[in-house]
Amino acid sequence: MASNKGIALVNLDEDGVDRAFRADVLQGLSEAQKAIPARWLYDDAGSQLFEDITRLPEYYPTRSEREILEARGAEFADLIGPDRAVVEFGSGSSVKTPLLLSAIDPAAYVPLDISGDFLRASSAELSAKFPGLPVYPVEADFMRRVELPTEVAGMPKLGFFPGSTIGNMVARTAVDLLRTMRETLGEGSKLLIGMDLIKDRKVLIAAYDDAAGVTAEFNLNLIRRINRELDADIPFDALQHEARWNDEFARIEMHLVATRDLQFTVSGKSFAMREGESIHTENSHKFNRRTGNALLLAGGWTPVQRWTDSEERFSLVLADATIPRSAL
Ligand code: AVJ
Repeated sequence: MASNKGIALVNLDEDGVDRAFRADVLQGLSEAQKAIPARWLYDDAGSQLFEDITRLPEYYPTRSEREILEARGAEFADLIGPDRAVVEFGSGSSVKTPLLLSAIDPAAYVPLDISGDFLRASSAELSAKFPGLPVYPVEADFMRRVELPTEVAGMPKLGFFPGSTIGNMVARTAVDLLRTMRETLGEGSKLLIGMDLIKDRKVLIAAYDDAAGVTAEFNLNLIRRINRELDADIPFDALQHEARWNDEFARIEMHLVATRDLQFTVSGKSFAMREGESIHTENSHKFNRRTGNALLLAGGWTPVQRWTDSEERFSLVLADATIPRSAL
């Protein structure tokens, strides 16, 4: 497996704890609005719970995006053309990839993921489905510039970033990532990116606060992880999952709300919460045509085509790294 030499993906302390995790949690719990970066939701249990979320009746994004991928193959083939190396950012255990690959006749597939286990599993599955397609997995953090395998150096690239993962980031981070992707992919590249759409609040809230309580489990798993890995005693039963619509920033926010006054320690440091106070654990930004385009343009990508599902819940946007003269 190709690796990005010299870059440690995780930096563990003497107790085997991820230093960045501890720092983010201690810092985040010290802020006026307590907040922990969403990436820490995705340990093994969290990633499994997210997979369960994608199958919930209320969680439309996965189905809506799949509908577009299934319906628009001929148009992808037309606009993207054959013989590109498809570079998927955060390939996870993606089930959407085969739909794209079978539509466009690519020259190679390069899944990027921070989790080597996920990478090996999804690469093996992909190779079985597409026996003639070279697969070059890269274990890397896609938030940084990635050195792609030399085998694909001469090929034009198509970046694939489905799932509206871009919506996890606030605008400045999203713009940084889009620019980093452009550097990773190079001149002449294209990007196919999923962007979830602003819609009826009830539909949005239900998607992030499902009746079966799987999203609540997913959110609370962060507390389990903190208690287990950071020698903490946060009272699990006194925190309640809440999905909130923030209209100012057009995003769903996940919070964990204290149902009573609380005191706890994390790695020897004391913290308190008042009843009703929350820990902000995730953002999921929603877009419309204009805000989506503005974000892509700020990130150095020119939108060329946009598709939505039949209910206009989700969009896939094809963008080009070439900046037209009118936009310089
Ligand atoms: C993986 C970031 C796309 O924001 O919809 C789903 C994560 N969180 N339910 C999303 C998530 C709660 C998901 N993304």
